[in-house]
Amino acid sequence: MERVKGELLYEGKAKKMFAVEGRPQEIWVEFKDSLTAFNARKKSSFVDKGAINAQITSLLYRKLGEQGVTTHFLSEINANTMICQKLKVIPLEVVTRNRLAGSTAKKLGFEEGTPLAEPLVEFYYKDDALADPFVSDDQALMMKTVQSRDELEILKHEARRINKILLKEFARVGLELIDFKLEFGRAADGKIVLADEVTPDTCRLWDLKTGEKFDKDRFRRDLGRVQESYQEVLERLQRSQP
Ligand code: TMP
Ligand code: ASP
Repeated sequence: MERVKGELLYEGKAKKMFAVEGRPQEIWVEFKDSLTAFNARKKSSFVDKGAINAQITSLLYRKLGEQGVTTHFLSEINANTMICQKLKVIPLEVVTRNRLAGSTAKKLGFEEGTPLAEPLVEFYYKDDALADPFVSDDQALMMKTVQSRDELEILKHEARRINKILLKEFARVGLELIDFKLEFGRAADGKIVLADEVTPDTCRLWDLKTGEKFDKDRFRRDLGRVQESYQEVLERLQRSQP
C-alpha cells in the first residue's frame, strides 16, 4: 500500500520525522543533507548526504533484521526516505567502543585507537541543552530513562550483539568499526527496538589496511574528502551484497 506523508512531527539535526496518513504506528523518516558536530556548534552540509546515510542505514538494518535484531526499519520510500515503526524514545545514547577514541580516550588519557580487551558500552543522556552528558547506570535509572536495571542490561546486551554483527559487516568491506552510537525505543507492546540510524555520522570507521578515517571525524577534524568518504562506505557495502 502506498504511504502518504502527513504532518511534520519532529525535526532533528540529521532527520525530519513525519506522520504517515492513516497509519498511526508508522513514521516517515527523511534524512537531511546537513552535517553537524560538537552539539551543532559546527555546521555544514553536502549534496546527497541524506540519501547516502538513509541507504547505509536501510542496508545495515536489513542485515541486522536477518540476524534476529528487531529494528524500527520497515521499508524504503526513496533514496533519502524510509518508513519506520513509531516508537517511544528511550532518552539514552548507547555508545559501544572496540577501541578507545574520541571523548573517552581524551577523558581517560588514552592514545586515540587504543584496543580494548572487550567492548565497552556506555550510556549518555539524550538532552541537547545538557550536550548529552555521560551517565552512570544509577544516574540513568534516577533520570527514569528506562523502567528498571534489567532494561539497562537489555540495552547493553543488544549493543554487544549488534556490535558483533556490525564488526563483521564492516570488516567484510575492509573497514574497522572503532565505536558507534545506537538509540532504542519502546514499541506499543513494551518491547525495546533499535531505532535511529547507523551511518558514518554515528560510527567511527577506519580502513583496516591504512587506518584512514571514513566517518564524521573527517568533518569534525577538518580532514577533507567528507562526501567522498561517506559515498565510499555506501559503495563498499553495496558492492559486498550478494
Ligand atoms: P565520542 O567519542 O564523541 O563519545 O563518540 C563515540 C561514538 O558515538 C562516535 O562513533 C560518534 C558517536 N556519537 C554520535 O553518533 N552522536 C553523538 O552525539 C556523540 C557524542 C557521539
Ligand atoms: N551528534 C552531535 C552533533 O551532531 C555531536 C557530534 O557528532 O560530534 O552535533
